[in-house]
Amino acid sequence: MLKGENINGYVVLQDFTTAGGGLSKWTFAKKSGKVYFLKEFLSPKYPTPDAPGSEKSKQRKLKECQKFEEHHYSVMTQINEKCGIGGNLVFTLDFFRHKTKYYKVTEKIDVASLTITEIATLPLSNRVLILKTIAHSLNVLHNAQIVHGDLKPDNVLIKRSKTGNYTAKLIDFDNSYFSEHPPEITEDVVGDMAFYSPELALYIKEDASVKPGHLTVKSDIFALGLLYTLYLTGRFPIFNQEKYTYAGIAVINDETLTLVDDTLPDALVALINQMLSKDFKKRPSVGEVFQVLKMMDVGKPGTETGEGKKTTKKTTGLSLKGNLIAKKDGTTTRSTKKVTKKTTDASSKATGGGLRGKGLGISKKKE
Ligand SMILES: Nc1ncnc2c1ncn2[C@@H]1O[C@H](COP(=O)(O)OP(=O)(O)O)[C@@H](O)[C@H]1O
Ligand SMILES: [Mg+2]
Repeated sequence: MLKGENINGYVVLQDFTTAGGGLSKWTFAKKSGKVYFLKEFLSPKYPTPDAPGSEKSKQRKLKECQKFEEHHYSVMTQINEKCGIGGNLVFTLDFFRHKTKYYKVTEKIDVASLTITEIATLPLSNRVLILKTIAHSLNVLHNAQIVHGDLKPDNVLIKRSKTGNYTAKLIDFDNSYFSEHPPEITEDVVGDMAFYSPELALYIKEDASVKPGHLTVKSDIFALGLLYTLYLTGRFPIFNQEKYTYAGIAVINDETLTLVDDTLPDALVALINQMLSKDFKKRPSVGEVFQVLKMMDVGKPGTETGEGKKTTKKTTGLSLKGNLIAKKDGTTTRSTKKVTKKTTDASSKATGGGLRGKGLGISKKKE
């Protein structure tokens, strides 16, 4: 789709860009004078009557499309009806099919680049504000029993507020699933291995010890612990990286992930280490995470007062205005490359290994 085209009333403002994982394309588009973010899904493709292929394959594709539509509508309904609209959760405004492809519309966020390193060097009060806004958004999903499933820096938009502070918006829960109901076909699990929880990595491996019921909102908490560590320190928590490429895999092999940083409040370090627990039942809920962050005395964002203090006291609420986007930088590029169960061996090598490379026997098929 090119600039100027009209898709269901949305006029495309710039040529579509392929986003990170290559599973979608996106652009900005205008409707009734307002500019929106428009995402085009590369699959499934709807079998129109004039499309080539046998009746049998068309029926199969049709079923796939129905499943896809049902998933999107059920997620939208849960978020909109049960939880109300979260101010910092970028929810779907419109979802439709145009010809053979599906599209999703959300509000446009004005974003600018901020690397992980840049985020990690913000005043602690501002880093904690970012963590709080993410927890707040995730709480909306978790209240609806929705597992985001793809938490990583690419899916968090960092915005700059009028006061000069940075806040966050959570996007891209298109690969989400309901808690305890992950995709039945493990090949349908989409995500980034660098952020997989140990139970998710085992589920994909089709390890008999992990049942769908073990794939809960707590899987997100593990990924969130990794994301928080990146934002706070600029790097992943400590584990044997010589031996394991991914944190979740290290944990499966009984490594304990630890965040060691004596510049951070003890309560924050303890919280994150708990989020990175191997046993998902030992991880805090996102509500608990939010409460701990809220009670942390790190000074008001925008002021240097109280910066880095290790006491606990209630501080400011959330502020959600402005614009900026988080981008991964050199320190995380290798690990944050988007991979799916369908990743080829070649691309898993490019990411420095992978589940299979670490002797877990996960076979990766070509699409
Ligand atoms: N609402 C938005 N406003 C502005 N940019 C956005 C918005 N949503 C997503 N983006 C940008 O588009 C990219 C891809 O969007 P995303 O929904 O994450 O697609 P994908 O499923 O391909 O990862 C994001 O990483 C971000 O850079
Ligand atoms: Mg994304």
